[in-house]
Amino acid sequence: MMKQDIRVEFTSAKKPKPDPHDLAFGRIFTDHMFVMDYDADQGWYDPRIIPYQSISMDPAAMVYHYGQTVFEGLKAYVTKDQEVLLFRPEKNMERLNQSNDRLCIPLIDEELVLEGLKQLVAIDKDWIPKAEGTSLYIRPFIIATEPFLGVAASHTYKLFIILSPVGSYYKEGIKPVKIAVENEFVRAVKGGTGNAKTAGNYASSLKAQQVAEEKGFSQVLWLDGIEKKYIEEVGSMNIFFKISGEIVTPELNGSILEGITRNSVITLLKHWGLTVSERKISIDEIIQAHRDGRLEETFGTGTAAVISPVGELIWNDESLVIGSGETGEISKKLYDTITGIQKGAEADVFGWTTEVASLSETK
Ligand code: COI
Repeated sequence: MMKQDIRVEFTSAKKPKPDPHDLAFGRIFTDHMFVMDYDADQGWYDPRIIPYQSISMDPAAMVYHYGQTVFEGLKAYVTKDQEVLLFRPEKNMERLNQSNDRLCIPLIDEELVLEGLKQLVAIDKDWIPKAEGTSLYIRPFIIATEPFLGVAASHTYKLFIILSPVGSYYKEGIKPVKIAVENEFVRAVKGGTGNAKTAGNYASSLKAQQVAEEKGFSQVLWLDGIEKKYIEEVGSMNIFFKISGEIVTPELNGSILEGITRNSVITLLKHWGLTVSERKISIDEIIQAHRDGRLEETFGTGTAAVISPVGELIWNDESLVIGSGETGEISKKLYDTITGIQKGAEADVFGWTTEVASLSETK
């Protein structure tokens, strides 16, 4: 593929930056965005960085009707030396194409989109918040734009990358959350789209989430869609348990999202000499382990929250308080290590970070 130039149009009206100590998740957006178009004749064309703006689309655009869309999420951080770092961004590009393949969206040139992403972050680098627990969340996504009501793959698409300075995803931050085991609704089934990062998976999770919140829980624990017996994910995160010293996480089975934080956690735990197994885990096994006093820790992993400890699981009417409801030792160590690597404060043994800019450079 011929290397394409990325054109840049700077904004003439920079927006005021938010108070870094008062950031929620995903409500504020920066000054610029990356855009690229696709049509069958040209392939992906006109990669550009332009002022952040609303878009105008035909109401018949296919994304509005049948949800042909994929997205990614990753973060940028500033180190104490004022360097801007990304965490494993090539993994997000790879997964974006895996999702594209599942949703019949034309594959992207991963190198080109990553280059656009880096240039965008470099242009809006002053938006990266530095307060504890904050970062710049990066949201690449693709939508089907053809105006057509037939159920088919679109012939035209748009790819965007937008940036949002964020605080904690959960209001609890790294504090343990209370989770209800979901035994009515399911998130995904093998053969479906559970292992693709596509909007429908998240839309179909809302009902269970709403019911759980009404009952005072933060999220739900998803069981498999066939037997409702095996654990899959927690909320929009992957899940890990520590049982009698062994760390277990559900194996990738086609309905579970292949989390990049999940992969980083497994790599780190093994590096620390701990035993990690990726296997089927039934809810019965977890309940039994808790009754026997062997369930030592439970935590979710994801880009947005990094590590989210689970302090209590509710199964029917039974409450399983885990590790006296406090953040476990492994959860804390993982959170500190991963965020430490992301911010350049911990040794990057695995070469996970990529430097994209320096705040000390003049633009
Ligand atoms: C994550 O990063 O953990 C997620 O998948 C959540 C995202 C949909 C906001």
